[in-house]
Parts: sequence; structure tokens; C-alpha cells
Amino acid sequence: MANTILVGAQWGDEGKGKIIDVLTGNADVVVRSQGGNNAGHTVIHGGKKYVLHLIPSGILRRSKTCVIGNGVVIDPLALVVEIEGLQKLGIPVGKNLLISDCAHLVLPYHRMLDEQREIRKGDAKIGTTKRGIGPAYGDKAARTGLRMADLMQPELFSKKLQAKIRENNSILQAFGAKPISFRQVNESYLEAGAKLRPFVENTVVWLHRALQRGKNILFEGAQGTFLDIDHGTYPYVTSSNTTAGGACTGSGVPPHRMDVVLGVVKAYTTRVGEGALPTEDAKLADMLHEMGREFGATTGRARRCGWFDAVAARYATMINGIDELAITNLDGLDTVDPIRVCVGYRLEGKRVDVPPADAAQLENCEPIYEEMRGWKKPTHNAKKFTQLPPAARDYVRALAGHIGAKLTVVSVGPERAQTIIL
Ligand code: GDP
Ligand code: IMO
Ligand code: MG
Repeated sequence: MANTILVGAQWGDEGKGKIIDVLTGNADVVVRSQGGNNAGHTVIHGGKKYVLHLIPSGILRRSKTCVIGNGVVIDPLALVVEIEGLQKLGIPVGKNLLISDCAHLVLPYHRMLDEQREIRKGDAKIGTTKRGIGPAYGDKAARTGLRMADLMQPELFSKKLQAKIRENNSILQAFGAKPISFRQVNESYLEAGAKLRPFVENTVVWLHRALQRGKNILFEGAQGTFLDIDHGTYPYVTSSNTTAGGACTGSGVPPHRMDVVLGVVKAYTTRVGEGALPTEDAKLADMLHEMGREFGATTGRARRCGWFDAVAARYATMINGIDELAITNLDGLDTVDPIRVCVGYRLEGKRVDVPPADAAQLENCEPIYEEMRGWKKPTHNAKKFTQLPPAARDYVRALAGHIGAKLTVVSVGPERAQTIIL
């Protein structure tokens, strides 16, 4: 397998975790390079459900190594809970997990500031996961963050933490929120730090050695292209580069060592949180929710749903350089007829083929739809492309055509086995 960057090409929750789990079979190493425990990647295997937040979804396959790269923001307490949770489920987590010493830490004041800022924004809120992601990346960019390397040096960590808590308590108090106790945070973080110590190292050097030994690396994107801090629907975005470039900066693996970019899309569109979703459709959402689908893996919120947006997906292909395409949740459309695909937007009487940068303009974009016939048959048992109903084949081929990438994976159910490799 070539070194592959897997990215979400929509608004997150495209089914990246499931596809990573499938592809890990052919990889040696799986790397997370951005985001934090705002991510929720679901893998269902052998009837068991696993939701990964910080640990790469490759962890479910023994003999593979998983790396949490320098670009990830880590809540150490949440990571310890995740490691211990997996171990309780019988998944070994030991030498197969590495954590970058350069990764920034998410601290309790980040979570509280995230919450307070959302409250203050009122109707203009972003709808964050309240995991402190924005404030943690804010500290990183302001060069005032604490990193894993600090946590590995208890005395230094405590000193830095005390100053940070003093500074942030005055902000929190101005918001009318309760101040944070240094003693409590210090104790719990040092305890988590001691548990994480065996995993922490210079992952850049480790990854380069793996490359020299000819190991195949899979980069697991979190969130999706339109949540990217630069290219997404700003300000309704997350605070990291969710697009392909983020895999390089967030891991220390240079661009010329990357071979393939695989984009993952759902056969329709979902979004959780605020911000424009041009193809949003209440009837489609009701249908999917009634099937028990499309509830957030991290916050449990009902996801907003809409038709496939080829305008957005084409733009995602441009930004990420998507060569190959995985289409998931095809089975979600098994009962729908006709199926709509958005092929352009109309804005102020003119046709536009690229999502506008301005949030209000995107909100005013009206989708131009093409209709395709539905297949009205279950697809979840299809093992080969030829076993899909002809209309389903036409549909996924049409999406790949709109996107301009080679269709390589079609997913027809959440289980590992419900995957068609083309
Ligand atoms: P991620 O964040 O991109 O990893 O996606 P999530 O795990 O948050 O959300 C995707 C959801 O779709 C999860 O519940 C998966 O189990 C589920 N899923 C993935 N692929 C398929 C599929 O082809 N069919 C069905 N029915 N569910 C799928
Ligand atoms: P995975 O990796 C879907 C959304 C939030 C909110 C915005 C900012 O599972 O695809 P944040 O907490 O990051 O500051 O929230 O981004 N968001 C996600 N939506 N899937 C995710 O991750 C997300 N991570 C963040 O809902 O709109
Ligand atoms: Mg998710």
C-alpha cells in the first residue's frame, strides 16, 4: 500500500473511521495529525462498536502501530480514559501507540473558555463540541501553549500551569465563570502524564525511520474539508487544517513522501453544528433519523442532513488533491427515489460553481439539482460492485464523475465486511 492521506471531503463524519479500519489491513502505521477529541470515529467489527476520539482507528488491528502526531491537541485525561476503555474491551494498547512530545495539551480552562465563548455568541454560536479545541489551538498559535514535553517534566509543568491558570482565571472570572483550582488540575494532569509517559517520544524521528524501512503509512484525517480553519466555511469551522496539507505539518512527514490522497464522502451530506449547509433537507433528515442514523459520535447531537453536494465535493478535490474516492453510507439511500444531487449553486440570480468564502453568501446559495432514479432495493449485502443494483452503480459513478476522482471504495454498511473494494 502506498503512503495514503485519508481526508473527509465534506463536513466531517463521512465514515473515515470505518474506511481507516478497512485500509489498515494493508498498512503498517496509522497516524492522526490534527484535531483532538472533538473527533468521533466509529468502527463496528465483530458486532462490537468502538468510538475513537484521539487514538487512530488503526488500533483495532493488532500488529499495527498508531501515532498521535505533533499536530493533534491532546486532553491527557480523555486520552487515558480512551486507552483504558480500549484495554477493557480487550484491545491491547502498549507499544503499538506513540504520542508526539510536541503535541499541545488541552487544559480545563480551554474547555471552559470554549463553553463561555459559545454562550456569549448567542445565536451566532459555532456549535462546537465544547472539548476546548479552539482555545487550545489559540494558545498554540499565540505561543503560550503547554505541550506533552512539558507534561513529561513535572516541576516545569507545574510552574507553567500555575501561571496559565492565574491568567485564565482572570478571564473566566470576567465571564462570570468559576475559577479553576491549580492544585486539582496539577494533580490530575501529572497523574495522567505518568500514565502516558511510556507512549511519549519524538514521533517525527520514529516515522522517518519507519519510512526508511519501507513501512506503509496511513494518515487518518479528522473532521472534514469544510471544517478546515483556512478552507472551510469560516467561522463555522474547527481550528485545525483538516485538509491534506495538515497531514504533513501535523506529522513531520514531508509532502513528497505522500503517494495518494483518498477522499471520503457520504452518499449524501451531513453536518453537526451551525453554519450553512446548502443542500439541507428536513425530509431526508427525518428519514435517516427514524432509521436511527446520523447522531453524532462525540456529542450525540442529531446531524443535519442534505443531498450530495457536488459543488462542495469538487472544491474538496481541488484543495486536497483527491486521487481516489470512498463513498460511504450508500445504503442510507436504499429507499429514496428520486435522489437529488446538487451540481451548482444559484446566488443573486447567477450560477456559481465554487462555494463562496463569505458565510452569509453561502447561506444564500440555492442548490441547482439534478435528479437520479433510486434503486429501491437493499444494498447492505452486496460484496462486489456488480452485485449493486444498476441504479446504485449509476449513482456512485455519477458522484465520482462530478468529483473527478477514481472510485475505489463503496461502503454499504458500518461493518468491516460491508465494503466493496473496486
Ligand atoms: P467519521 O467521524 O468520519 O469516522 O464518521 P462517524 O463514525 O462519526 O460517522 C459515520 C457513521 O456512519 C458511523 O455511525 C459509522 O458506523 C457509520 N457508517 C460508516 N459507513 C457506513 C455505511 O456504509 N453504512 C452505514 N449504514 N453506516 C456506515
Ligand atoms: P470527525 O473527525 C463533525 C464541528 C463541530 C462544530 C465545529 C467546531 O468525527 O469527523 P470544535 O469542537 O472542533 O471547535 O467545533 O466543528 N466538528 C465536527 N463535526 N465531525 C467531527 O469530527 C467534528 N469535529 C468538530 O460540530 O460545528
Ligand atoms: Mg465522526
